Amino acid sequence: MSVQSCSRFLCESLFHPGQVGAIGPSSHSLALRMVRWINWERVGSVAEYGPGTGVVTEQILRSKQQDTRFFAVELNPHFVETLMHRFPGLAVCQDSVANIEAICRQQDVPALDVVISGLPWAAFSDRQQNEYLDAMLKVLNPGGYFATFAYLPGMALPSARRFRRKLRDYFNEVRIDRTVWVNVPPAFVYQCRL
Ligand SMILES: C[S@@+](CC[C@H](N)C(=O)[O-])C[C@H]1O[C@@H](n2cnc3c(N)ncnc32)[C@H](O)[C@@H]1O
Repeated sequence: MSVQSCSRFLCESLFHPGQVGAIGPSSHSLALRMVRWINWERVGSVAEYGPGTGVVTEQILRSKQQDTRFFAVELNPHFVETLMHRFPGLAVCQDSVANIEAICRQQDVPALDVVISGLPWAAFSDRQQNEYLDAMLKVLNPGGYFATFAYLPGMALPSARRFRRKLRDYFNEVRIDRTVWVNVPPAFVYQCRL
């Protein structure tokens, strides 16, 4: 991760704290944990939510099969610019994940096998959490994978605990991976399946 990417991240987090929800990009270790538990051989389509400066994007590109359809959805135009520069040829949609159904149509992807999310769920209201999860369930295939991370210290927030309860309502299987202590702050991955 370049110094330029880190400073862009810090700058955007100062201007849009409720959207970015972190002071820096995820560590390499956390990014690996987000993708490693998925059986990529069976994945025909994957979307990344909130890629930021692309730490997890890089691991998805390394893990997926060559013919797997992949696009990223990022709201922040400055991050979109960084991503397009860093990954030429990657489909990056500057939009909200609330519109995932329309984005899938636009990308000519009828449904998704995997969603990998870097969204700051604990920074979202109850209404936003529901809106984004409801929209995702309309496009995620049965048996589909959903990965997202949470910061350990953030679990003190009611919004973070509410999100954990919601995951158990929305998914058939929710596993909590062990904590990545080298991440700043320490974080863990929710491994969910429909
Ligand atoms: C905590 S950062 C994670 C960045 C990156 N995935 C990482 O792990 O380093 C959250 C990202 O979600 C994006 N974001 C927030 N709300 C969004 C939304 N509704 N739709 C798409 N992206 C969103 C932010 O702009 C930011 O890039």
